[in-house]
Amino acid sequence: MDNYQKIIEGIYADVKNIEDSGKVASYIPELGNISPGNFGIHITTIDKNSFGIGNSDTKFSIQSVSKILTLTLAYKLEGEKLWERVDVEPSGNPFNSLLQLEADLGKPRNPFINAGAIVICDVLLSHLKNPKKEFLEFCREISDNKNINYNEKVASSEKITGFRNVALCNFIKSFGNIKNNVDDVLDFYFHICSLEMTCKELSEIFLYLADDHFITKKGNRVLTESQAKRVNAIMLTCGFYDESGEFAFRVGLPGKSGVGGGIVAIHPDEFCITVWSPKLNIKGNSYKGMLFLEKFTSKTASSIF
Ligand code: DON
Repeated sequence: MDNYQKIIEGIYADVKNIEDSGKVASYIPELGNISPGNFGIHITTIDKNSFGIGNSDTKFSIQSVSKILTLTLAYKLEGEKLWERVDVEPSGNPFNSLLQLEADLGKPRNPFINAGAIVICDVLLSHLKNPKKEFLEFCREISDNKNINYNEKVASSEKITGFRNVALCNFIKSFGNIKNNVDDVLDFYFHICSLEMTCKELSEIFLYLADDHFITKKGNRVLTESQAKRVNAIMLTCGFYDESGEFAFRVGLPGKSGVGGGIVAIHPDEFCITVWSPKLNIKGNSYKGMLFLEKFTSKTASSIF
């Protein structure tokens, strides 16, 4: 299909006024200030056709969606050895759970739960001289967009209240699976979670996961075809924590959510679609985001199944 505009307009109108019993995340106080009525959608196809509606040009906190980007850079730098530090199994537990780590001897189940993303940040710290700066440069290169930044207010807001992440990082370090200073790892983690993008920008930055032939303007490949396949596979099985099965069941695309209310989903060889609606369901995933995507893949027959 080459024109999605009418379709997203129709579904947007259907979903916009549906009663949403979800709640805006407020455990990071700064996120609680966002207006709950925001609702944006954007699609970018691998041929660079672009379709948007609603608040698709408003920056928001991408939170855990950034875990795809840190995983990508760590995979690039570390290769297959990465999987010695973090597993690729769905956890079936909430994103901030400590439960399985003790039995798993400090090896997180996957790179998308907080424990796994913290280990990935530690891997990046071991490779990069100035992690915050170099990670931002990486994001800007793969999206060809200099306008991507951390939100320092959100990063420090999370630093003040991030007790669980502090516990996770220390606990993993006790098993020897964090190599760097805990405060440095967490400072980097809180920053990557504070990245801000619009739906349009998000749908552009992840084109490398949809397009096998993607290279940056500088002529660099982001991931090999096989690596991109694996990242998509982890998104499909682990992108929504203990709701990953539900997302695959209802939407049928590899995807990833964040507590800022953003969801990104990939249709390999076709497009990247992003939705932003800040009210979250009980599992921490955007209620309207999931609903929109379910209707979208049903209407366009564009799930991968
Ligand atoms: O560490 C946290 O709790 C947040 N910075 C990120 C959590 C998140 O987005 C999980 N998403 N559903």
